[in-house]
Amino acid sequence: MKIITVSSLKGGVGKTTLSIYLGQALSKLYPKSKILQIDLDHNNNLTDYYLRDEPVDLIEGNSIAKYLTGVKDIDSIITSTAFKNIFIIPATPKLSKTAVGLSWDAGLITRFRKHLRNLNFDYIIIDTPPALCLELNLGIHASDIVLSPIGFSRWNIQGFQEIEDVVINSNESLENGKIKILPVRTMVSEKKSDKLEELQITFAKTFIPKSESIASAVDQGKPLTEKNSIFFEQLAKEIK
Ligand SMILES: Nc1ncnc2c1ncn2[C@@H]1O[C@H](COP(=O)(O)OP(=O)(O)OP(=O)(O)O)[C@@H](O)[C@H]1O
Ligand SMILES: [Mg+2]
Repeated sequence: MKIITVSSLKGGVGKTTLSIYLGQALSKLYPKSKILQIDLDHNNNLTDYYLRDEPVDLIEGNSIAKYLTGVKDIDSIITSTAFKNIFIIPATPKLSKTAVGLSWDAGLITRFRKHLRNLNFDYIIIDTPPALCLELNLGIHASDIVLSPIGFSRWNIQGFQEIEDVVINSNESLENGKIKILPVRTMVSEKKSDKLEELQITFAKTFIPKSESIASAVDQGKPLTEKNSIFFEQLAKEIK
């Protein structure tokens, strides 16, 4: 099993888009694998992509908040999607308030890592909100690798360093395993991606280009075209 968390403190850099299409790329490359996508963002864009036609009651009942508050076991809230091998644990806008009430529970972060590792999936991909909050810590602490989308702005680089600090903190408290972090250039043109390479950061080789077609696919809840899915497949191979 590999657990991948997508995190950045900058909003709108393509975290959710990367979470979604990395999951689909892994499913396409490794058709026998089972993939779980987890929404830890109260803005629930990942949930909206996969479950936009599902009833609110189902989404509420299976939401990650039910697990975090101890109402349900994690395996009982795993929800099917229209993709045979892709499952989701959804979130609702209530997650943020729930998480604030839970912040004192330090054991939860450790338990979440353990509970995910007991599930029967090949890949778990976690989408997180762009803030230093419990949800971000839960996702990062549970992961094997953190992918951090970075666009072309010095503020994004600064935000990346803060994510790096969370990873370092988690690694200090982990007895088994080590969390890696890999910045991924997203929504950039080829020219700008070269500029980013001049920085003292080792990026993933793959970069996700700025593309209207990617934007409209994700906004409409559709899969990518062959041409665009290649980028996510390359990234999937890189982190395998
Ligand atoms: N490669 C891309 N090229 C152009 N537009 C993109 C690309 N990826 C995502 N977008 C668009 O950018 C917007 C933000 O993307 P996304 O929701 O994935 O970012 P995010 O980092 O998850 O945002 P938030 O911080 O609000 O959760 C969306 O409207 C999406 O359609
Ligand atoms: Mg998002």
